[in-house]
Order: sequence, then structure tokens, then C-alpha cells
Amino acid sequence: MTQNNSGGAGRLRGYHSELFALADAPFSLLRELIMEKTGMYFDDAKRGLLADKLSELVAVNGLTSFLDYYYLLRHDENADAHLNALMNRLSVPETYFWRQSEQILAMSEVIAPTHFATKPRAPLRVWSAACCTGEEPVSLAIALAEVGLLDAQPIEIVGTDGSPAMVARARANSFGPRSFRQIPANLKERYFEPDGDRWRPIERIRRAVSYDVANLAVPAEFAGLATADVIFCRNVFIYFADDVIRRVARTFCERMPDDGCVFLGAAESLTRLNVDLELAEIGKAFAYVKAGRRHHIERTNSAILATRTATHVTTGH
Ligand SMILES: C[S@@+](CC[C@H](N)C(=O)[O-])C[C@H]1O[C@@H](n2cnc3c(N)ncnc32)[C@H](O)[C@@H]1O
Repeated sequence: MTQNNSGGAGRLRGYHSELFALADAPFSLLRELIMEKTGMYFDDAKRGLLADKLSELVAVNGLTSFLDYYYLLRHDENADAHLNALMNRLSVPETYFWRQSEQILAMSEVIAPTHFATKPRAPLRVWSAACCTGEEPVSLAIALAEVGLLDAQPIEIVGTDGSPAMVARARANSFGPRSFRQIPANLKERYFEPDGDRWRPIERIRRAVSYDVANLAVPAEFAGLATADVIFCRNVFIYFADDVIRRVARTFCERMPDDGCVFLGAAESLTRLNVDLELAEIGKAFAYVKAGRRHHIERTNSAILATRTATHVTTGH
């Protein structure tokens, strides 16, 4: 079914979108399939955007219609490879270090100390669930280094993304100026080293983070990861259909520990989706915790922080 086109995506970009019109029938077939396989939902207002993104893949595969592309995704013997290419094409690689830093600091200054005070032998497991090019999990490692916990305590930080291309870029650990638009200059100086005209995290930070591919539209791919103590799942639900968000959030809720929590992006909310999670105030941020656990979690955090403050005042450390 697939014909090779040696020209590649780059050469084709820009002129082919006018070649293919995305008519009603292929639009609805493709958007259902894309929602099933990636979680992402393209409403009617985004039909043009979807046509533009998919035109490139239609052309690269030597096809002449969106319907052929739909059959390719459904039935081709290389359907998995085509789905990966689709995920790469639909991925929105917008991220930067220290994004919504109040959440990052809530993890390092409140959740992590409470975890080690209440479960001294258990590793702290932190999962960045749509990590894109890696800025989020690297920020988490830096924040834990800043509070002196990264090397002193057992900590696992895993970054995953549904796009294999994003995971490859995260693993490359090479960051350009746009990634640094928010992080304080002193942290850049201390935790990064030059890498040609780019920057890479110092070895201690690189070592702290591991990466993998995991698709949030496939519960079996992330059910194990969802047992993490802290889940950062930020700025990906904005692209998802409500039913998919509900399924992902319910899997988080079933799998996370009783004191676990989930951070979402600023524009994202679970409030109207009928899942058993509620908002708790953690440091200067809000996170979702299991329904009924908010008071316990907030009280424990305050008690541990008060003990630490008292110890600091008494001992000067
Ligand atoms: C805008 S970035 C968010 C990056 C980071 N979490 C942040 O807030 O800065 C969205 C990411 O979600 C990923 N994504 C989209 N659909 C996904 C899925 N079904 N499973 C996992 N990741 C997905 C994209 O590949 C992209 O890297």
C-alpha cells in the first residue's frame, strides 16, 4: 500500500496542503482514529489545522488522498511505524525549564521532604508524563538538587512522551536558548555546561533522569508509571478528548499511592469530569490528590514543614 517518496517531509512542506481537501467523511474517520490512538481531539474548528499536518504525511507516503492515509493507518503492515510518525507530526513541542515553577518547588520543597520524613526507606518516584524534549524532568532534578535531596536520597525521575521523536530529543540532552526563557540565570550557570552553541545539563542532573516512550491513550503503556508518588502531566490534556482525559485520570487515581499527587497545566482541570480526585494546596501550588485525602495530605505537609523549620531555628541548619 505504501509507496516510497524519497523527497522527505522537509521538501514537501508548504505546498501540498492545497493539494488535498479534507472532506467530511475522511475528516470524521481520521479524527476518530487519531483520538483512539493518540488521545488528541480535533474539533470542527481545527479541521484546517489537521489537514495541514496530515497533508505532509499523505505526500511522504506517496498517497493522493486522506482516505488512503486513513487505510494506511488502519491496515498497513507497518501501521505502528505510521502511528509513530503521526504522533511525531501532531506533537506540539512547546516547553521550557522552570515552567510553572511553583509546582516544581511544591514537589521539591514540600512533597519530597514530607516523603522522606514519613517513608524514610522508600524511594521518591517522580514521573513527567508528557515530557516533550525533557525540560520538565530536568527542572525537577534541578529543584531536588537545590534542596540537597537529589544525591542524598533514593529518587527516580522518569520522563515519558508518546512521540518517539520527542523522547530522542530529550535523551540527546541538548538545549537551545528558548528552553531557558524562564529559569533563573544562577540555576543555568550551576546546572548546565556549554554544548557547542547550545547547553546540556551537568552529568549529575543527566544521570538523575531516564526517558521512555509511553502513550497516554494506551492505559497498559503507563499503568506501571502511574504508581509514582508525584505525576507531572502538564499541558497535554488540553489536546485530549474529555473521555480520554477521564480514562487517564481514572488510571492515575487507581494506581497512585494514597498520598500521591498529580500536577496539571494552568489551563487544565478535572473538576467537571467526575473522577475521584480533588485539589489540595501544596506549597504555593495546587495538585490533584485522591478524593478524601486532601486534609490528611495538607496537615501532614504542614506538620513536617513546621518540624523542619523548628529544627532549623534551633540548630541553625
Ligand atoms: C506542549 S508539550 C508539554 C510538555 C511539558 N509537559 C510542559 O508542560 O512543558 C505536549 C506533549 O504531549 C505529548 N503528547 C501528546 N499526546 C500524547 C500521548 N497520547 N501520550 C503521551 N504524550 C503525548 C506531545 O508529544 C508533546 O511532547
